[in-house]
Amino acid sequence: MYILFLILFILIASTAYAANSGAPWVPTKKKDIERFLNFVDLKPGEKFYELGCGDARLAIAAAKKFGVKAVGVELSIPQVVVAFIRNRLAKTEVKIKWANLFKVDLSDADFVYMFLMPETYAKIKPKLERELKPGTRVASYVWPVVGWEAEKVLHEEGRLDIFLYRIK
Ligand SMILES: C[S@@+](CC[C@H](N)C(=O)[O-])C[C@H]1O[C@@H](n2cnc3c(N)ncnc32)[C@H](O)[C@@H]1O
Repeated sequence: MYILFLILFILIASTAYAANSGAPWVPTKKKDIERFLNFVDLKPGEKFYELGCGDARLAIAAAKKFGVKAVGVELSIPQVVVAFIRNRLAKTEVKIKWANLFKVDLSDADFVYMFLMPETYAKIKPKLERELKPGTRVASYVWPVVGWEAEKVLHEEGRLDIFLYRIK
Protein backbone atom coordinates (compact mmCIF):
# COMPACT_ATOMS: atom_id res chain seq x y z
CA MET A 1 0.00 0.00 0.00
CA TYR A 2 2.79 2.42 0.98
CA ILE A 3 4.51 1.65 -2.32
CA LEU A 4 1.36 2.64 -4.22
CA PHE A 5 1.15 5.94 -2.34
CA LEU A 6 4.82 6.55 -2.96
CA ILE A 7 4.41 5.94 -6.72
CA LEU A 8 1.33 8.18 -6.82
CA PHE A 9 3.21 10.85 -4.90
CA ILE A 10 6.16 10.72 -7.33
CA LEU A 11 3.81 10.97 -10.36
CA ILE A 12 1.93 13.94 -8.92
CA ALA A 13 5.12 15.62 -7.68
CA SER A 14 6.77 15.38 -11.13
CA THR A 15 3.70 16.95 -12.76
CA ALA A 16 3.44 19.70 -10.14
CA TYR A 17 7.14 20.47 -10.41
CA ALA A 18 6.94 20.72 -14.23
CA ALA A 19 3.82 22.91 -14.06
CA ASN A 20 5.61 25.22 -11.67
CA SER A 21 8.93 25.28 -13.47
CA GLY A 22 7.86 25.79 -17.10
CA ALA A 23 4.11 25.55 -17.69
CA PRO A 24 1.19 23.31 -16.79
CA TRP A 25 0.10 20.74 -19.34
CA VAL A 26 -2.17 22.34 -21.94
CA PRO A 27 -1.83 20.77 -25.39
CA THR A 28 -1.36 22.68 -28.63
CA LYS A 29 -4.78 22.60 -30.31
CA LYS A 30 -5.16 19.99 -33.07
CA LYS A 31 -6.01 22.65 -35.68
CA ASP A 32 -2.96 24.64 -34.64
CA ILE A 33 -0.69 21.62 -35.12
CA GLU A 34 -1.81 21.60 -38.76
CA ARG A 35 -1.35 25.37 -39.02
CA PHE A 36 2.12 25.04 -37.49
CA LEU A 37 3.16 22.26 -39.88
CA ASN A 38 2.01 24.30 -42.88
CA PHE A 39 3.73 27.41 -41.55
CA VAL A 40 7.24 26.00 -41.05
CA ASP A 41 9.70 24.62 -43.57
CA LEU A 42 11.02 21.49 -41.87
CA LYS A 43 13.22 19.13 -43.84
CA PRO A 44 13.81 15.37 -43.51
CA GLY A 45 16.61 14.56 -41.09
CA GLU A 46 16.54 17.90 -39.29
CA LYS A 47 16.83 17.75 -35.50
CA PHE A 48 13.58 18.99 -34.01
CA TYR A 49 13.16 19.60 -30.29
CA GLU A 50 9.85 20.10 -28.55
CA LEU A 51 10.60 21.57 -25.12
CA GLY A 52 7.93 20.46 -22.67
CA CYS A 53 6.39 18.04 -25.15
CA GLY A 54 3.44 16.86 -23.05
CA ASP A 55 2.02 13.85 -24.91
CA ALA A 56 4.31 14.67 -27.86
CA ARG A 57 1.45 15.05 -30.33
CA LEU A 58 3.21 17.90 -32.15
CA ALA A 59 6.63 16.20 -32.30
CA ILE A 60 4.97 13.02 -33.57
CA ALA A 61 3.02 14.95 -36.23
CA ALA A 62 6.24 16.72 -37.34
CA ALA A 63 8.13 13.41 -37.54
CA LYS A 64 5.31 11.85 -39.58
CA LYS A 65 4.88 14.72 -42.01
CA PHE A 66 8.51 15.76 -42.56
CA GLY A 67 10.69 12.88 -41.40
CA VAL A 68 12.50 15.07 -38.88
CA LYS A 69 14.54 13.51 -36.07
CA ALA A 70 12.28 14.67 -33.27
CA VAL A 71 13.09 14.81 -29.58
CA GLY A 72 10.36 15.49 -27.04
CA VAL A 73 11.60 16.72 -23.68
CA GLU A 74 9.20 16.33 -20.76
CA LEU A 75 9.52 16.27 -16.98
CA SER A 76 6.05 15.16 -15.92
CA ILE A 77 6.16 11.35 -15.66
CA PRO A 78 2.49 10.71 -16.65
CA GLN A 79 3.03 12.82 -19.78
CA VAL A 80 6.23 10.94 -20.59
CA VAL A 81 4.35 7.63 -20.39
CA VAL A 82 1.52 8.89 -22.63
CA ALA A 83 4.06 10.34 -25.10
CA PHE A 84 5.90 7.03 -25.19
CA ILE A 85 2.67 5.11 -25.93
CA ARG A 86 1.52 7.61 -28.58
CA ASN A 87 4.92 7.37 -30.25
CA ARG A 88 4.67 3.56 -30.31
CA LEU A 89 1.12 3.61 -31.68
CA ALA A 90 2.05 6.15 -34.36
CA LYS A 91 5.07 3.98 -35.30
CA THR A 92 7.27 7.07 -35.24
CA GLU A 93 10.75 7.25 -33.79
CA VAL A 94 10.44 10.34 -31.68
CA LYS A 95 12.93 10.24 -28.83
CA ILE A 96 11.00 10.91 -25.64
CA LYS A 97 13.39 12.30 -23.06
CA TRP A 98 12.43 12.43 -19.38
CA ALA A 99 14.39 15.54 -18.52
CA ASN A 100 14.27 19.13 -17.39
CA LEU A 101 14.17 21.35 -20.48
CA PHE A 102 16.53 23.81 -18.81
CA LYS A 103 19.20 21.09 -18.62
CA VAL A 104 19.03 19.51 -22.08
CA ASP A 105 21.88 20.26 -24.50
CA LEU A 106 20.34 21.92 -27.56
CA SER A 107 23.51 22.54 -29.54
CA ASP A 108 22.53 20.07 -32.31
CA ALA A 109 19.02 21.50 -32.81
CA ASP A 110 17.82 22.75 -36.19
CA PHE A 111 14.40 23.65 -34.87
CA VAL A 112 12.96 24.20 -31.38
CA TYR A 113 9.25 24.36 -30.61
CA MET A 114 7.94 25.65 -27.29
CA PHE A 115 4.56 26.16 -25.76
CA LEU A 116 5.43 27.39 -22.29
CA MET A 117 4.59 30.38 -20.11
CA PRO A 118 5.80 33.85 -21.15
CA GLU A 119 8.05 34.04 -18.07
CA THR A 120 9.55 30.66 -19.02
CA TYR A 121 10.42 32.02 -22.47
CA ALA A 122 12.24 34.84 -20.71
CA LYS A 123 14.05 32.33 -18.47
CA ILE A 124 15.13 30.01 -21.29
CA LYS A 125 16.11 32.77 -23.73
CA PRO A 126 19.76 33.07 -22.54
CA LYS A 127 20.22 29.29 -22.83
CA LEU A 128 18.83 29.31 -26.37
CA GLU A 129 21.09 32.24 -27.34
CA ARG A 130 24.11 30.45 -25.83
CA GLU A 131 23.54 26.95 -27.20
CA LEU A 132 21.71 27.18 -30.52
CA LYS A 133 23.78 27.46 -33.66
CA PRO A 134 23.18 30.36 -36.07
CA GLY A 135 20.29 29.61 -38.40
CA THR A 136 18.37 27.46 -35.90
CA ARG A 137 14.67 28.24 -35.99
CA VAL A 138 12.66 28.64 -32.80
CA ALA A 139 8.87 28.68 -32.74
CA SER A 140 6.81 29.84 -29.80
CA TYR A 141 3.10 29.24 -29.53
CA VAL A 142 0.67 31.85 -28.14
CA TRP A 143 3.25 34.26 -26.68
CA PRO A 144 6.27 35.94 -28.26
CA VAL A 145 9.79 35.70 -26.92
CA VAL A 146 10.21 39.24 -25.63
CA GLY A 147 13.37 40.90 -27.00
CA TRP A 148 13.58 38.78 -30.14
CA GLU A 149 12.40 39.95 -33.54
CA ALA A 150 10.18 37.37 -35.21
CA GLU A 151 11.02 36.40 -38.78
CA LYS A 152 7.37 35.49 -39.36
CA VAL A 153 4.20 35.52 -37.29
CA LEU A 154 1.20 33.36 -38.09
CA HIS A 155 -1.62 35.62 -37.02
CA GLU A 156 -5.19 34.81 -37.95
CA GLU A 157 -8.38 36.25 -36.54
CA GLY A 158 -9.76 34.08 -33.76
CA ARG A 159 -6.69 31.83 -33.68
CA LEU A 160 -3.66 31.68 -31.42
CA ASP A 161 -0.45 33.20 -32.73
CA ILE A 162 2.66 31.25 -33.72
CA PHE A 163 5.97 33.15 -33.73
CA LEU A 164 8.96 32.02 -35.76
CA TYR A 165 12.48 33.19 -34.95
CA ARG A 166 15.90 32.52 -36.45
CA ILE A 167 19.02 32.54 -34.32
CA LYS A 168 21.66 34.95 -35.67
C1 LIG B 1 1.67 24.06 -22.18
S1 LIG B 1 2.20 22.37 -22.13
C2 LIG B 1 2.62 22.10 -23.85
C3 LIG B 1 2.61 20.64 -24.21
C4 LIG B 1 3.03 20.36 -25.66
N1 LIG B 1 4.25 21.02 -26.00
C5 LIG B 1 1.96 20.76 -26.63
O1 LIG B 1 2.18 21.80 -27.27
O2 LIG B 1 0.95 20.08 -26.77
C6 LIG B 1 3.81 22.54 -21.34
C7 LIG B 1 4.48 21.21 -21.01
O3 LIG B 1 5.81 21.49 -20.56
C8 LIG B 1 6.12 20.58 -19.51
N2 LIG B 1 7.19 21.20 -18.70
C9 LIG B 1 7.08 22.30 -17.91
N3 LIG B 1 8.26 22.59 -17.34
C10 LIG B 1 9.14 21.67 -17.78
C11 LIG B 1 10.52 21.46 -17.54
N4 LIG B 1 11.22 22.25 -16.73
N5 LIG B 1 11.13 20.43 -18.18
C12 LIG B 1 10.42 19.62 -19.03
N6 LIG B 1 9.10 19.77 -19.27
C13 LIG B 1 8.46 20.78 -18.66
C14 LIG B 1 4.81 20.41 -18.76
O4 LIG B 1 4.79 19.23 -18.00
C15 LIG B 1 3.81 20.39 -19.92
O5 LIG B 1 3.57 19.09 -20.39
